[in-house]
Amino acid sequence: MKNGFRKRLLAGVLAATVCRMLFGCMVIGNGTMAAAETVSAREKAAYDYMVLVNKAHKLPDNWENNVVLKEAVNKWGETHLVEEKALEQFLKLQKECADEGIIIELDSTTRSVARQQELWDEWTIEKGEDYVKKYVAVPGYSEHHTGLAIDVCLEKDGRRIDDNDEMIAEKEIFAKVHEKLAKYGFILRYPEGKDAETGYSYEPWHFRYIDNPEIAKEIMDKGITLEEYLGETD
Ligand code: DAL
Ligand code: ZN
Repeated sequence: MKNGFRKRLLAGVLAATVCRMLFGCMVIGNGTMAAAETVSAREKAAYDYMVLVNKAHKLPDNWENNVVLKEAVNKWGETHLVEEKALEQFLKLQKECADEGIIIELDSTTRSVARQQELWDEWTIEKGEDYVKKYVAVPGYSEHHTGLAIDVCLEKDGRRIDDNDEMIAEKEIFAKVHEKLAKYGFILRYPEGKDAETGYSYEPWHFRYIDNPEIAKEIMDKGITLEEYLGETD
């Protein structure tokens, strides 16, 4: 009888403990899941990090009202606005580069349609229409409207390098930077020899945040474009 009672008591305590553990886990589990769902639902509803903006795809309607931009100041005191996660990851990329003696800085980031028009006009005067079509998007069709695109410049031997041709010539430096992009969720948006797919010439400085290091790695390892990854090459 005594043994029986003790067994039942033990069983009761065990059952209560298991129940409390389960209940506790369920609460924690549900809470975590609910939070994750809420965040991802909010993000999905707000904007798609894989968004395709190119000569055939304009910036989606209402994008500017949803995107969350954060301010950053580069080493020359210039203020930039970049999508919050893109900026967070860029700063990590920048730090890893700096640890290896490579200085990359924010050069041109989020641009309004009006600013893109100014650039288009300035570059047309400076370089001519043929050049502009290869390097500058028509206002409304630039990835720079998304907040997810970052043009970097370099600092080498204390000198800022932000001229297109000079940057293209810095093959060794950019090769090292490009190797690191995917780790932080970025891709090189306009790779060399992919003018037909992207519509633009090689831009070693234009990084595009896609918020997914695995997909970014696949794109970078295969040397393909976002258009090819998404099957949008027509
Ligand atoms: N340089 C890229 C193509 C832009 O203007 O958006
Ligand atoms: Zn760019």
